[in-house]
Amino acid sequence: MITIHNKNFVPYISEDEIKKKVKNLAEQISKDYDGMKPLFIAILNGAFMFASDLFKELEIEAEISFIKLASYKGMKSTGQVLTAIGLDFDINDRHVIIIEDIVDTGKTLHSFLPQLRHSQPKSIKLATLLHKPEALLFPVEIDYVCFAIPDKFVVGYGLDFDNLGRNLKEIYQIEE
Ligand code: IMP
Repeated sequence: MITIHNKNFVPYISEDEIKKKVKNLAEQISKDYDGMKPLFIAILNGAFMFASDLFKELEIEAEISFIKLASYKGMKSTGQVLTAIGLDFDINDRHVIIIEDIVDTGKTLHSFLPQLRHSQPKSIKLATLLHKPEALLFPVEIDYVCFAIPDKFVVGYGLDFDNLGRNLKEIYQIEE
């Protein structure tokens, strides 16, 4: 068991299990995108470790860029607006694969994906390390998932609890 900010977490997905799934996913994507030179867009901060390991295992030509999504309250009643920081490269006519750490409610991607579609990429697919199906509130189509998990808070392998825990090699789940 480990403690972060006074909360206890128990081991949930081992380093070995993560490695295997990430390698399998890289093999799958390498088959699906052979000869298509896809552009991976990894979403910071959470996806940095997953993106790096996944990219290393690819067997095809591919590019990668990193962006950060910042939300601010819009002036209108539409609520939160997402700005993509670092999205200064051309995705027009490219096969794009978004790399996320976790799809929880789906809110982030539900508002970000339409923005990307404006630039008319050839295709957009979504790869996520984790997905909490029970927590999904916004319709998001996920193409590649490493682990579907219950609706409980997790940390490690890039994911944080209040900025801590990202460096853990395995994934821990909150103890209840
Ligand atoms: P969504 O917009 O609700 O899908 O939330 C996605 C973001 O919330 C992820 O990219 C994470 O940064 C964060 N998040 C959601 N669930 C967890 C969790 O269990 N642990 C750590 N971060 C989480």
